[in-house]
Amino acid sequence: MNMLPCCPRRPVFWMAAAILLVVVASTAFSQKYADLSLTPPMGWNSWNRFGCDVNEELIREIADAMVTTGMKDAGYQYINIDDCWHGTRDSLGFIHPDPKRFPSGIKALADYVHAKGLKLGIYSDAGYRTCGGKPASRGHEFQDAISYAQWGIDYVKYDWCETQNLNGIGAYTTMRDAIRSAGRPMVLSLCEWGSNKPWLWGKEVGHLWRTTGDISPVWDSVVNHGTWQSNGVLQILDMQKGLRQYAGPGHWNDPDMMEVGNGMTANEDRAHFSLWCMLAAPLIAGNDLRTMPKGTSDILENKEVIAVDQDSLGVEALKSSAKDSIEIWFKPLVGGDWAMCILNRNREQRKVSIDWQTENVLDSLSMRNTQFATTTYKIRDLWLKKELGTTKKPLAAKVEGHDILMVRLQKMEK
Ligand code: GLA
Repeated sequence: MNMLPCCPRRPVFWMAAAILLVVVASTAFSQKYADLSLTPPMGWNSWNRFGCDVNEELIREIADAMVTTGMKDAGYQYINIDDCWHGTRDSLGFIHPDPKRFPSGIKALADYVHAKGLKLGIYSDAGYRTCGGKPASRGHEFQDAISYAQWGIDYVKYDWCETQNLNGIGAYTTMRDAIRSAGRPMVLSLCEWGSNKPWLWGKEVGHLWRTTGDISPVWDSVVNHGTWQSNGVLQILDMQKGLRQYAGPGHWNDPDMMEVGNGMTANEDRAHFSLWCMLAAPLIAGNDLRTMPKGTSDILENKEVIAVDQDSLGVEALKSSAKDSIEIWFKPLVGGDWAMCILNRNREQRKVSIDWQTENVLDSLSMRNTQFATTTYKIRDLWLKKELGTTKKPLAAKVEGHDILMVRLQKMEK
């Protein structure tokens, strides 16, 4: 019988197989490290409080304080050095830390931080210079990723200053690929301020993306810095409109690092923190942990509020109503619970009454419905840490100016 030669003997078969292999291999090669941030990352960053004034002693002391203040126990993990750690590049183009500020080198710092059970993050920028005018990664992406991997870095925040004519998706994808090829899992935090709508493409590239320009420790105003402006808590909150559908486990909207403990009132700090948790935002503290007063640690370390942020469903809250400066937000949680907030944007105290039967929420994103007519929930105040009855009766509450009431609605067995 005249049999056709078996497929593997045909050159065309082997060529097709080789091409397939290359495609499969390059796809695997160019993926971000998945599973690094299935819940929003939690940590600390130097910028909001210290700006360019960073050095290895500060970072070591912050790592110590992360443990002694209880922040680590509350879930905070990353210690992120922001801008201005840089020295110069050597003749081969490798970057080195500023020898005066970081005389022991970054690897020694990473070892110190890791020995405490914490992780170390670093900062660079897709352009020629960082926002602080230091050498950035353009043209050195793969080299820089190799250095970070060798140093033991766990988290890279990648900024967007001096990026003339660069394409956002391309620039961030290059750093993603550089990290992948360096072979060490590192969270990639895209910091291009929402300029290129990163929520549309960031999921494939990084683990979180900034949605706005920089935050400032103010409640409700825009701060003018001459050539640029930064935003208060409410400005940033309002800019999250329409973005919740893009976030989820492993890819988060980032409304910027926190300003808790950096000058706002206790009410404002509490509301800011609650809102960030409702938004499933990365919780990156920006205050001086070494001198943190109890009032501040009570906010940053409230485990029941943090549990709302870290809920494994990973769905952001939705605003169900807004009237006379009072906003009501609902966040679906795993297992049928909900978190709910009453935000008072105004300066004066307000009395609010919630009639649950008229407050039903149908969330088309998570396909969840509160169904207050047929489901009863226990109401737990997450700041007072006490039960407020059930949803069988309307809730009467007083909310102070610039403050928030935050409750967990715990589904009761029928
Ligand atoms: C930009 C970023 C900030 C911070 C500074 C550092 O403004 O948005 O978060 O990293 O640069 O220079």
